[in-house]
Amino acid sequence: MRNWKEGKRMQKSINFALVGHMFMGRAHSHALNDVTMFMKDLGIRPVLKTICGVGAGLEDTRERFHWEKSETDWHKVVTDPEIDVVSIAVPGFLHKEIAVEAARNGKHILSEKPLARNYEEAYEMYEAARDNHVLNMVNFNYRRIPAVALAKQLIEEGQLGQIVSYKGFYQQDWALFGAPMSWRYKSEMVGKGPLEMGIHITDMARWLVGEIDEVVSVMKTVVKERQTADGSKEAVTNDDNTVWLARFKDGFMGMFEASRAHMGRKNFQWFEINGTKGSLRFELERMNELNVYLSNDCEDRRGFRNIIVTEEMHQYMKNWWPAGHMLGWEHTVLHQYYEFLKAFEEGSMPSPSFEDGMKAQKVLDAVVKSAEENRWVSVDEIGR
Ligand SMILES: NC(=O)c1ccc[n+]([C@@H]2O[C@H](COP(=O)([O-])OP(=O)(O)OC[C@H]3O[C@@H](n4cnc5c(N)ncnc54)[C@H](O)[C@@H]3O)[C@@H](O)[C@H]2O)c1
Repeated sequence: MRNWKEGKRMQKSINFALVGHMFMGRAHSHALNDVTMFMKDLGIRPVLKTICGVGAGLEDTRERFHWEKSETDWHKVVTDPEIDVVSIAVPGFLHKEIAVEAARNGKHILSEKPLARNYEEAYEMYEAARDNHVLNMVNFNYRRIPAVALAKQLIEEGQLGQIVSYKGFYQQDWALFGAPMSWRYKSEMVGKGPLEMGIHITDMARWLVGEIDEVVSVMKTVVKERQTADGSKEAVTNDDNTVWLARFKDGFMGMFEASRAHMGRKNFQWFEINGTKGSLRFELERMNELNVYLSNDCEDRRGFRNIIVTEEMHQYMKNWWPAGHMLGWEHTVLHQYYEFLKAFEEGSMPSPSFEDGMKAQKVLDAVVKSAEENRWVSVDEIGR
């Protein structure tokens, strides 16, 4: 396996293995199947070699998404000389082990978020990828929405002026319907606090407006126990709802909430950014739109405008449909693979990398520490 620093690749195809075949496994498989159909400037084609998973449905996913073979032991996948890239779409407690071993075997890696269960583990993943010179990317797929890219562009152009306030919410309701015990409700499997959803809004804030300096938080487990396969009850060991305030390094403040127990909220990720000259607002459930208020508009017609972000000049859109023909959630993952493959071709590090995943995780370790110790916690307090 060549080092990613060796410059532009001449090869025309690259062999993928994917560990995980269920929800995100299907999203990754879909992206890998379709990415070269639509992203015409890609000179490299992903080859779907091996899908790995445990439990029902593995063969079905293999067949539907055109994987050449299936495997149940991930150790065999990460040591297979035929594989160039390992994608990881399994619960968080497995990410570090798989990624570190994949990196040691020279495999490039695209891992699901959160990188791991805590900063310590995320750092080990970052270190292993860095020391073995492999490409690494974390699937913060919401960066890849054209409306979010437009938000970033407006901020970078200075259209909002100086940032005054950042608000980032991620609310869903699946914890309220009596689902049985699973890895999602165990801190030892997926980390404490708000990790699963909080990591997305933390990354979004870091990416759009910069680093967070300190946080203060509260966390609550709403549904305290769940039924196991044998009919007994087991305690939920992570939190359903976490709220935190933040001070950013640039001096402005932020407000965040990550919850899986907000009835009626399905995939409600929302941010609003207020600046001295303008504001903008985005909602994932209306992902083709961006709401923008600019104070330099004529005084008699100022107001929030709703931009449908599907014009040819918007990011990625020239590859898709005529304006107004909306994109869906699955495109976020496809765009992420596009960025990964482009980086591979160009011999550059893809973004967001494990370093971004690790830095977001550091913020959330501070959020957990704050709730546990009932005080403001500086992100710099979290270390190795
Ligand atoms: N980026 C996003 O938008 C997004 C959305 C949901 C979940 N996720 C992340 O994706 C990851 C997977 O979540 P999911 O919702 O797809 O979970 P899931 O429960 O639907 O699937 C888990 C997968 O892990 C596999 N698995 C478990 N143990 C294994 C083992 N020992 N060896 C091989 N495979 C094993 C299972 O076969 C299954 O395919 C998590 O890290 C989660 O945080 C990301």
